[in-house]
Amino acid sequence: MKNLIPVNLKSQKYNILISQSENDFLKNLKKVTATTTFFIITDKNVKKLHLKYLSNLLKQRSNDSKVSVKTAVISAGETGKNIKKLSFLYNKALKESIDRNSCVIALGGGVIGDIAGFFAATYMRGIDFIQVPTTLLAMIDSSIGGKTAVNITKCKNIVGVFYQPKLVWINICFLITLPSQHIKNGFAEAIKYALIFDRKFYTYLKKELINGFIKDFDYIIYKCCFYKVQVVKKDEKEISGVRTTLNFGHTFAHALEAYTSYKKFLHGEAVIFGMLFASLVSLKLKLCSKKTFKEVKQILTLLDFKLNVKINTRQLLNLMKKDKKTTSGNINLVLIFKIGKVKSVSVRDDIILNVLKNWS
Ligand SMILES: NC(=O)c1ccc[n+]([C@@H]2O[C@H](COP(=O)([O-])OP(=O)(O)OC[C@H]3O[C@@H](n4cnc5c(N)ncnc54)[C@H](O)[C@@H]3O)[C@@H](O)[C@H]2O)c1
Repeated sequence: MKNLIPVNLKSQKYNILISQSENDFLKNLKKVTATTTFFIITDKNVKKLHLKYLSNLLKQRSNDSKVSVKTAVISAGETGKNIKKLSFLYNKALKESIDRNSCVIALGGGVIGDIAGFFAATYMRGIDFIQVPTTLLAMIDSSIGGKTAVNITKCKNIVGVFYQPKLVWINICFLITLPSQHIKNGFAEAIKYALIFDRKFYTYLKKELINGFIKDFDYIIYKCCFYKVQVVKKDEKEISGVRTTLNFGHTFAHALEAYTSYKKFLHGEAVIFGMLFASLVSLKLKLCSKKTFKEVKQILTLLDFKLNVKINTRQLLNLMKKDKKTTSGNINLVLIFKIGKVKSVSVRDDIILNVLKNWS
């Protein structure tokens, strides 16, 4: 297994480095930036655990004492991914004299990656940034591919731009402090890649879950990053539809997150229910066999999450219609055909309502 995945895009080329070696990181960092000023954006939890470590590492970068590391800390969790926090970041950056030659580092989970990326894309019309993901979800998904965004009330990721990082450094040591609920949350996205692309990977992940421990995080992360990069290379800005397949389970998930005001479910948890919902729709439309549906249900059930919320089906449908993939009022859902094959399909409202009613 290689530890460097090149992301060669039209807009930019960069590397994903999967390594526990600080030297590897510093060498790769040197190749992408000559800056002496870093602006680390992180959240309150990650600050306590890992900020000092990264800050000291960056200072080692150069033997002279010129390297300066400024930081901005926002509240943890989805509610921190909003315009108010973005505005705080702009003001803090100005106060700290961050300029076009500085480099932003997103140190944290997907929330930090998304808001820091959006900040980097827009501050002074765009400055360099690097992703240092610290959750499993961010390592296998959100730190790769250049989607950046903030939420506005009841609408997730609706304001954002595509903006690629200069480097992504994935170090599984950060996972040591990550609570198990968040490991499971990331694992849901790993299952998503398996269901979309790879039956063998599905079997591998199922075995790991049944055994009750993860033997090789680096391998799982490598596989997920590999698949994400293949898709992003083909469809960087989600234009041709190839990238849309990665949204398997996401239309329902985003609606569920909004329905519960981003407070009840973690993103990956919502994606579990989204994948189950999409598979129920596939079954209803006879696009997948009962066996496939059972296989999807089996692996998701192993993660042991409960959808203990009363759903108003009409309200949820309306929220699903706010999805960016809705065209002319029709909901386009990524549906499963068999393990390793999914496709975007336009689904009528009555079918969605029927599946929701029978499920909740
Ligand atoms: N840009 C994309 O392509 C993309 C893809 C998927 C998800 N996302 C976004 O990612 C976000 C979810 O990301 P997430 O699940 O990483 O959530 P998160 O960023 O909220 O992190 C989860 C929690 O873990 C804490 N944490 C982070 N690293 C830690 C560590 N090493 N040890 C202990 N605690 C740690 C955080 O403080 C937070 O409380 C959502 O906003 C979602 O929309 C974006």
